[in-house]
Amino acid sequence: MSTKPTVLVTGADGFIGSHLTELLLNEGYHVRALCLYNSFGSLGWLEGVSHPELETISGDVRDPDLCRQISDGCEIIFHLAALIAIPYSYVAPDSYVDTNIRGTLNMLQGARANKSLKRIIITSTSEVYGTALTVPIAETHPRQPQSPYSATKIGADALALSFHAAFDLPVVIARPFNTFGPRQSARAIIPTIITQIASGATEIKVGDLTPTRDFNYVEDTARGFLAIARANDVEGQEINIATGSEVTMAKTLDTIATLMGKEVSWVTDPARLRPSKSEVRRLLGDSSKLRELTGWAPKYSLEDGLRKTIEWFTEPANLARYKADIYNR
Ligand SMILES: NC(=O)c1ccc[n+]([C@@H]2O[C@H](COP(=O)([O-])OP(=O)(O)OC[C@H]3O[C@@H](n4cnc5c(N)ncnc54)[C@H](O)[C@@H]3O)[C@@H](O)[C@H]2O)c1
Repeated sequence: MSTKPTVLVTGADGFIGSHLTELLLNEGYHVRALCLYNSFGSLGWLEGVSHPELETISGDVRDPDLCRQISDGCEIIFHLAALIAIPYSYVAPDSYVDTNIRGTLNMLQGARANKSLKRIIITSTSEVYGTALTVPIAETHPRQPQSPYSATKIGADALALSFHAAFDLPVVIARPFNTFGPRQSARAIIPTIITQIASGATEIKVGDLTPTRDFNYVEDTARGFLAIARANDVEGQEINIATGSEVTMAKTLDTIATLMGKEVSWVTDPARLRPSKSEVRRLLGDSSKLRELTGWAPKYSLEDGLRKTIEWFTEPANLARYKADIYNR
């Protein structure tokens, strides 16, 4: 039995969740890590990670009884498990409702039954804002559900806030803007570009390069979660994690090619375009709330983060885990 405070991370097998798990272990917590059950016994990005304070559990947030069991005894819950690909949400919206809305409800119910709970952090996304109506986007910006993914996250956020209002559950909503770094799935723009270039392609398949994004390096996002977990008197609040700078996809891709020292051309792959009304054209976040409450600030510039990301993806053992030649929605 560990003497360290126990925290639960759902989605710990994923990109951000695995980095957050490592940060929490380094910070001296006992981490209970929920990895999505599968018949291969895979723990995703926690596969092969061994630490005396890491407790892995295979399961599914669609299972209410499991959510109650894994919450028990945890002081802090970081709920990151979700279906997150926007293109796949066009074809499988039902599963997004089940995992993102019902799964969040199950975690909230589990948290309510947990007498040790100090805080539950629900993971939202900048996609809930849709194309910026005003910039920088503060937490008060209107919600615009431009994809089924975004709609399910808006629903999950609303449930979480209702549990704070109705039951005084110590809920905080963390809202990361676009995050990138080692281990990200190739459905996202930065990994798909790096893996195509690293695999020797010179004609790089892309979607729309005109939208802008506010890119967080994953270590900064993970530190943002931790800062939110430790902040005083933030229950019932929504808090952006954003750098406060924006860049077009085109500029991001040029920077990647330059950093990789390759001359490439871009070709539009229609499969990678979102329906026009669904494309979020501009995301530029206001993180002054997080900065003022916690002193958080990003440590990585976009270029520094890209350098670390390229370094990781171009390791042959890492690159071998990706299928650069297919569109992984
Ligand atoms: N990556 C980004 O740019 C970004 C930006 C904003 C918000 N987010 C949010 O951050 C969180 C983590 O995203 P990520 O980028 O690490 O994606 P990811 O797909 O790598 O991680 C999500 C994890 O959830 C797990 N999961 C899915 N369905 C589950 C279920 N039914 N039960 C249990 N686990 C399940 C998956 O196995 C996966 O490992 C998500 O909530 C996402 O909406 C991500």
